Amino acid sequence: MLSYQHTYHAGNHADVLKHIILGDILAGMQAKDKPLFLLDAFASRGVYDLSSAHALKTNEAETGVRKLWPLRHERSPMGVHRWFLHTQAQNSEGGLTYYPGSTSVLHHLQRDNDRLVACDLHPQEFDDLNHQFSRLHGVAVLKRDAFEAIKALVPPPEKRGLIFIDPSYEIKDEYTQVAKTVAQAHKRFANGVYVIWYPMLPEERHITLLRSLKNSGIRKIFRVELDTKDCFPDLQMHGSGLLIINPPWNAQQAMKSSLDWVCDKLTDNKGEKHMGWLVPE
Ligand SMILES: C[S@@+](CC[C@H](N)C(=O)[O-])C[C@H]1O[C@@H](n2cnc3c(N)ncnc32)[C@H](O)[C@@H]1O
Repeated sequence: MLSYQHTYHAGNHADVLKHIILGDILAGMQAKDKPLFLLDAFASRGVYDLSSAHALKTNEAETGVRKLWPLRHERSPMGVHRWFLHTQAQNSEGGLTYYPGSTSVLHHLQRDNDRLVACDLHPQEFDDLNHQFSRLHGVAVLKRDAFEAIKALVPPPEKRGLIFIDPSYEIKDEYTQVAKTVAQAHKRFANGVYVIWYPMLPEERHITLLRSLKNSGIRKIFRVELDTKDCFPDLQMHGSGLLIINPPWNAQQAMKSSLDWVCDKLTDNKGEKHMGWLVPE
């Protein structure tokens, strides 16, 4: 039984980085007008209520979206600006009650000819996701195991796609399972864009994921990472990163600008950022 619920963590420093970079990547892929398949394999509920008891219990949004919110009218990089506009659109004038998650970010950028599939197994997360997104054009919401869905839905008929992998890492061996699933999917769909999120926790288990993918034989693996160091001592998760297989070349500058901005504004440049190839071409 899954116990993780993302509402406890919504809008924290890792979510902010994740959602801004995800937008940069998809925008880069959309430079070509061919249809895209978008798979949000671990979707959660799509939009989070920051005024809910869960969110208020941890107040993690204070380390992310709430800290950045006062800057929304200032000049910022394109990816950040896009994320601010989208977050603003979920809320009434000036307020910040709702935080858009990955399905909402992907749907916001989805074009008429793109197809979005979002999966979650948690009954409550699925119900919310289903309620909000299943009636929308070009969106399918599935109560389906993410690992099994990646196997079944990849390669997509569109032949171009973004596979977003954002597990809760509740189970220790999920790091290995992610690497294995991606390696298998990559064999069938080598030119897909795979975006894999990971947390940086005191146990540093993400190293297993990095090592496994580095040794998988897959080329063109790009890493974007922000370690917030001691900026948020109440959070176990001190940083986070994204591994991007086959990043669109035109997204790299956008990702750099976004990462620089997030590091500066969230950590006053006390954080440690890293961006570059884990495995080059
Ligand atoms: C970190 S949260 C996802 C957050 C979301 N992607 C976002 O950015 O807003 C992970 C989600 O994956 C779901 N999950 C965990 N294991 C799963 C599995 N094997 N198949 C499908 N969903 C799963 C959990 O219920 C949880 O909602």
